[in-house]
Amino acid sequence: MSEIYEQEALRVTDLHKSFADQPVLHHISFQLLKGECLGIVGESGSGKSTLARCLLTLMNWQSGEITIGDMNLKGLDSRGLRWVRSRIGAVFQHPAAALNSRLRIIDSLMEPLDQRKGCTPSFLNLDDAAGRLEIACALLDTVGLPGDYVYKFPHELSGGEKQRITIARAISTEPDFIILDEPTASLDVTTQSVILNLLKDLQAKLGLSYLFISHDLAAVYYMCDRIMVMRGGHIVDQFKKADTFDHKRHAYTKLLIEVFNG
Ligand SMILES: Nc1ncnc2c1ncn2[C@@H]1O[C@H](COP(=O)(O)OP(=O)(O)OP(=O)(O)O)[C@@H](O)[C@H]1O
Ligand SMILES: [Mg+2]
Repeated sequence: MSEIYEQEALRVTDLHKSFADQPVLHHISFQLLKGECLGIVGESGSGKSTLARCLLTLMNWQSGEITIGDMNLKGLDSRGLRWVRSRIGAVFQHPAAALNSRLRIIDSLMEPLDQRKGCTPSFLNLDDAAGRLEIACALLDTVGLPGDYVYKFPHELSGGEKQRITIARAISTEPDFIILDEPTASLDVTTQSVILNLLKDLQAKLGLSYLFISHDLAAVYYMCDRIMVMRGGHIVDQFKKADTFDHKRHAYTKLLIEVFNG
């Protein structure tokens, strides 16, 4: 196991979240290690996206700790929140909703870097003096898109191309980890596998850490080193990919495997 795995990107301890006294997350505890892909799989309504929103500090939670590096996310002031949000990348199900339809691609893509003036992603290997356009084109190249896409508007792009833009944006700030919440659910089957492969390649090349959320065990199995199974707001099972078919798996995991095997 490489050294990078020994460092922690994220720790969640005994997280509870309710909506109007209705518990949605119970006793959620896990850690994400640097360089790994941790899958969260579970049926609709099991609390996956609620967990993602808590991590992104888009939502409050009642109790429990979320820690990134040595920063505890509870009770941060607006400066602390801005810092934390720049440390977490996010890619969601609907790329069209994630891109402002009135902005050219360059402006949506560069939005996080525009807020951190003078910051050039180190993985692009550009000169410190690289301009905004040069950085944007290099980011597009990283996700397999031609540089002239910077001048296009979202409606001129396919769903897969739009998702490539949101991926490029998510990696641009070199975050501690990236939350992928059903990143391929809105795409056709062929494009789904192309985007999953792109994510896998980027992870290997750039040493990214992913929290990969999906209701699709096959996709999670393909992408992840470890898998957590959620049901009704609980983590009912947590295991290494190699142990997926172990007889010790939770009954609900076995049910998901049956569906996965068709
Ligand atoms: N803003 C909200 N207000 C009230 N209840 C909510 C809110 N957001 C989510 N919920 C409820 O929390 C539960 C978990 O929803 P969540 O969106 O986290 O599920 P999910 O696992 O992401 O599902 P899916 O696979 O369909 O995306 C559901 O019962 C949902 O109705
Ligand atoms: Mg969801």
